[in-house]
Amino acid sequence: MTFDKSFVWGAATAAYQIEGAYKDDGKGLSIWDVFCTQEGRIFQGQTGNIACDHYHHYKEDVQLMREMGLKAYRFSISWPRVLPDGTGRINEKGLDFYDKLVNELIANGIEPYVTLYHWDYPYELQKKGGWLNPDSPKWFAEYTQVIVDRLSDRVKNWFTLNEPQCFIGLGHFDTRLAPGLKLSVKELLTAAHNTLLAHGMAVSVIRQRSKQKANIGFAPQGLVSFPATVCEADIQAAKQEMFSVKKERPVNNNVWWMDPVYKGEYPEEAWKLFEKEMPVIGPDDMKLISQPLDYFAINTYGGTPVFMNESGKPELLKRYDGYPENAREWPLDFDALYWGAKFFYERYKLPILMAENGIPTCDWVHLDGKVHDTNRIDFLQRNIMSLEKAAGEGVPMHGYFVWSLLDNMEWYTGYAKRFGLIYVDYPTSKRIIKDSGLWYKQFIQGLVV
Ligand code: BG6
Repeated sequence: MTFDKSFVWGAATAAYQIEGAYKDDGKGLSIWDVFCTQEGRIFQGQTGNIACDHYHHYKEDVQLMREMGLKAYRFSISWPRVLPDGTGRINEKGLDFYDKLVNELIANGIEPYVTLYHWDYPYELQKKGGWLNPDSPKWFAEYTQVIVDRLSDRVKNWFTLNEPQCFIGLGHFDTRLAPGLKLSVKELLTAAHNTLLAHGMAVSVIRQRSKQKANIGFAPQGLVSFPATVCEADIQAAKQEMFSVKKERPVNNNVWWMDPVYKGEYPEEAWKLFEKEMPVIGPDDMKLISQPLDYFAINTYGGTPVFMNESGKPELLKRYDGYPENAREWPLDFDALYWGAKFFYERYKLPILMAENGIPTCDWVHLDGKVHDTNRIDFLQRNIMSLEKAAGEGVPMHGYFVWSLLDNMEWYTGYAKRFGLIYVDYPTSKRIIKDSGLWYKQFIQGLVV
């Protein structure tokens, strides 16, 4: 294997998608608790009220992680479980849950990677305008401080925000995710700027208050365009496309988020396309937003083939009819991680941390009581090989996290498709490690390639 010994192998989850216990022990409501009750929002009206009931099964889940030989576990904290109103009063029982989870992980030799925000915004703060409210970065900083003060003696790896492209872009412009708003472009860009400030303030809080040296990352989607052929023109076309901004979907791209965070500036194209709608930027904002981070985290599930057309412009290659795809009808391209890692490293110069990568499939328990998800094994193998190829060409790497540890509530698509290394029988909460989980165990041990 080209990855060095310190490379981290793990799996990831998010609070709303697995915890359930949506009203237990003093938890406040999140925007997802409310969004799921609104008609037509979620596949078959499903909710995360119970989900995998991880809140009550966390010990069992940690034992399964141990059985699978995971070195690290990435999970998120439910902000309203800890601060039911979003700010102010702390719900000790909620905080205790994460305290116990962290202890359990450490006792079993699994390194915790904590995501502070994975989309379940406190409903009480949403009523005050949510990310559009100019105080929202401070609210996030307050919450971050509560978590860091409590967990940083044992937790050293942090992610601030997960996929702002989704919770801002799809949640505040194209209505698919909570809170399901359709803001004007100006408001959208202001909300986006506030989340970047929230990221920056959280970085400051962690650096100032952590009880040990912290590793901090930001986990946007890593949207990959890869060259349709390896000719230089197509490579250039793919790069141009990957780092571009589109008028129709202002924030659903890489650079809106990554350029401010890693380069301390909005992309030039942003100013050209949205001159009138750009947010008000305070004198110290960009400095706050672009404090140094320790790794370049991305969530990548695939990519888009691009070529240079005859007019010298990048163009998306139309895939042939019947192109292989997964259960969510996402096309399968196994070169995406290789090109993504190369292009991102070239531009942002930090070690790559693949914070999510996985595949939705239609799994079930077979007659022999096992879950034979061979497609997932092949998918993971190929994606890891793709990443390894980039590592072999000199791209530094920090780690790889499979999405997901458990089958779970996949936001607006509900429970229809399964991403887990572990199968969850929802009516009984029974867990079964799938063949892919057993394969991953052997892979981590170096027994299979
Ligand atoms: C990412 C999210 O978008 O991909 C996860 O960080 C999510 O929370 C995963 O579950 C799978 O994709 P989708 O389309 O279900 O969001």
